[in-house]
Amino acid sequence: MDVHSFSQPDRVRVRHLELDFDVRFDRKILEGAVTLHFEPAREPELVLDTRDLEIHGVENATGFELGPRDAILGSALKIGIEKGCSFVRVRYSTRPGASGLQWLDAAQTAGKEHPFLYTQSQAIHARSWIPLQDSPAVRVTFQGRVRTSNGLPAVMAAERAGEHFKMTRAVPPYLIALAAGELAFKPLGERSGVFAEPALIDLAAREFADTEKMIRAVEEMYGPYRWGRYDLLVLPPSFPFGGMENPCLTFATPTILAGDKSLVALVAHELAHSWSGNLVTNATWSDFWLNEGFTVYLERRILETVYGREREQMEAVLGRRELDREMASLPESDRVLHIELAGRDPDDGCTLVPYEKGALLLRTIEGEVGRERFDAFLHSYFDHFAFQSITTADFLDYLGRELPTSVPLEEWIFRPGVPSGAAEPQSDAFRRIEEAAARWQHGTAVETSDWSTQLWLHFLRSLENPELARLDREFHLTEAGNSEILHQWLLMAVRGGYEPVFPRVEQFLGSVGRRKFLKPLYTELMKTPEGRQRARRIYSVARPGYHPIAQATIDGIVGGSQ
Ligand code: BES
Ligand code: ZN
Repeated sequence: MDVHSFSQPDRVRVRHLELDFDVRFDRKILEGAVTLHFEPAREPELVLDTRDLEIHGVENATGFELGPRDAILGSALKIGIEKGCSFVRVRYSTRPGASGLQWLDAAQTAGKEHPFLYTQSQAIHARSWIPLQDSPAVRVTFQGRVRTSNGLPAVMAAERAGEHFKMTRAVPPYLIALAAGELAFKPLGERSGVFAEPALIDLAAREFADTEKMIRAVEEMYGPYRWGRYDLLVLPPSFPFGGMENPCLTFATPTILAGDKSLVALVAHELAHSWSGNLVTNATWSDFWLNEGFTVYLERRILETVYGREREQMEAVLGRRELDREMASLPESDRVLHIELAGRDPDDGCTLVPYEKGALLLRTIEGEVGRERFDAFLHSYFDHFAFQSITTADFLDYLGRELPTSVPLEEWIFRPGVPSGAAEPQSDAFRRIEEAAARWQHGTAVETSDWSTQLWLHFLRSLENPELARLDREFHLTEAGNSEILHQWLLMAVRGGYEPVFPRVEQFLGSVGRRKFLKPLYTELMKTPEGRQRARRIYSVARPGYHPIAQATIDGIVGGSQ
């Protein structure tokens, strides 16, 4: 049972969608129709999820009724159908505030000349732009035709041919995606490439040059890439996430374009979802750790293969530390892998717990049974459940049958915190950085010219109440171009009340919409009276440029939408 969907797929289950719509940049709406195909009905009613859609009519139905709006779930669309009926066609349009769409004005793009639209359907936002059975347990194939009011190109996360799109592998609704804007394309390999605004395309192609190596690394371990092409789409900076694993077409934030490939763990992550998540999918949002924990585990294995063990160890230690930091601020009930989400927005379950605690569980099992056996298990897991949506119980059954282990699985999955006996990521490079941090705090200069992004992050996080003016003077952190280093610095500087950094904080919050960066900064600002004033002032200007999902998060921190 999926508590986040009104649809009752056990009665009538939709199998295929035909999407046909116009992207109306002039009115900031999508306008069109979806034909939903299902097995000949034995029940008189089909129930769909919607949120803030305008339903113009339903064809091949005996009637329809839009239910009351639930703040989290939206409205059920109940469609009366005749016995034996196998499709209905819903004509509809979206509303300008649709939670799954972001309409950008030209000023919010790199080129500043054309508007931009993109969708974000995970977790339950597909229903705000397509009426459908919006549960990850309901997989559909689809075809699409998309026209734009101003002739700009549109792309869907699917096989593409001009304005026509086709997804022949059954996917959960949260993976249906669309973008339109001024896009350039550069190939990266035989089956991979990158889309970006023309101003960023060369930078993006250089940054992602190792993509083909990454694909081959996973294939080597866990079997063939099953989705045809693997392309990336670099979005404007207001994209609220780091990345989104839309099939055939990963969506990515431009904040990972560091110029030195140092933030491509995100590409490894979204690519890994092509196995963990897109091939084998969480059946409900309580099983989200099956998507993200497995993906972080795979991400680190890719990094190890392509960039070496030391890089992998650093990323694992950074993740482990961040997990502890975040867990300390969460209620116990959110420190479990299988999380209770009834009555809650599934986006609330998106903490580091499913990611890092999930990955740590897999690493712990690997440590017990050995890498060779664990890889064989994972390979067979992806084959066994390919193109299916599964629950935590399905995973536990399969693991129990194929790879019995003495790791306390019940404790890991259903109890808060990290059990004793967990794997302990270690990094020698980081030990040397901790020594350097101690020396620096005693007033000694440290040689930093060959430091990577990961070393910098660990250095900054290892300092206790550092002298902020000295840090900035010696290392020019306020001018850092690397988004992760800059974010870490701004956070420390706000925490320490270091005045000279505030113009940069304001500029950063006004130009980037990635929730992972916004949330900690606004939270830190809100801790003092002057900070609160600053946060409100900055937010009142920046809010219209944020995605509805980020707006909702920051409204909850800064308070209201003033
Ligand atoms: N699928 C997630 C993004 C997501 C999760 C969107 C839940 C909506 C609801 C994506 O794969 C992801 O995990 N992105 C991370 C980056 C990753 C490297 C940890 C992000 O956006 O920060
Ligand atoms: Zn992910």
